[in-house]
Amino acid sequence: MHFQWYPGHMTKAKRAMQEDIRLIDVVIELVDARIPLSSKNPDIDQLAAGKSRIILLNKSDMADPGFLDLWIREYTKKGYLALAINARKKNELKKVNALIQQACKEKIERDRKRGILNRPVRAMIVGIPNVGKSTFINSFAGRACTKTGNRPGITKGKQWIRLNKQVELLDTPGILWPKFEDQTVGQHLAFTGAIRDELIQSTELALDLIDFLTENYPGTLNQHYHVEERQPSVDTLRQLAEVRGCIGKGSEPDFDKAASLLLDDFRNARLGRITVERP
Ligand code: G4P
Repeated sequence: MHFQWYPGHMTKAKRAMQEDIRLIDVVIELVDARIPLSSKNPDIDQLAAGKSRIILLNKSDMADPGFLDLWIREYTKKGYLALAINARKKNELKKVNALIQQACKEKIERDRKRGILNRPVRAMIVGIPNVGKSTFINSFAGRACTKTGNRPGITKGKQWIRLNKQVELLDTPGILWPKFEDQTVGQHLAFTGAIRDELIQSTELALDLIDFLTENYPGTLNQHYHVEERQPSVDTLRQLAEVRGCIGKGSEPDFDKAASLLLDDFRNARLGRITVERP
């Protein structure tokens, strides 16, 4: 499967991020808990060099619970403060505050040694499109939303949300572009819907998804669609089309329609909580 991308968008997003990142102390990176590797752009490591790093495994409500702790351990080993979250659940996000406080500790101590007191620590949300950045900012900061406004000369044009006495959050997230020279990365992003469907051959993608599911979550397709799993994926998709009444011209199974149905069910966790990437 081959994907295209638009370098213009990428360059612009990267430049904007470079500017914003200079203003902040803590980078809070959102990744998709179902694909914690592919939804992470390695460029951020260079962009965020010297900053405290938090990684939030978002959409954890759709990920296999058995893998969440493993991923948290994996990222903790790499030096991040890591947490699994559901950005739609406001009350679950209190733990993020504690994490920010923890990340800020060193910074505050450093400032204190230099004689700088009471300077709020600044945080910023980054992540690839559709990973839940806006949802997170709304749920997390919506309540505490005392926008501090522009500060001439220092943070021109930037809006900060004051979370508490010590922490301010930049209200516009940084957009990271997914990196998928590697076709597997592209495939995993497409599974979760992180790549727009116009760029994708959905039947081919659905066949890949069938292969993944029958190997890693055997019984899932059979349980949901009453299809046979021990057969070539194209036959499983044909059966799925028949079972679900995806019939096209001349009473032939409509593969595209069946593919869309399967992808939509998977993306909305109607097939259960499934993690595509394991540490
Ligand atoms: P972005 O700013 O990073 O581009 O992402 P955004 O917040 O717009 O979120 C993209 C989609 O993901 C939204 O769904 C949002 O509701 C959903 N989402 C975000 N975080 C979570 C989460 O932790 N769990 C689940 N299950 N979904 C999450 P949408 O279908 O585009 O909109 P809507 O359903 O909210 O109307």
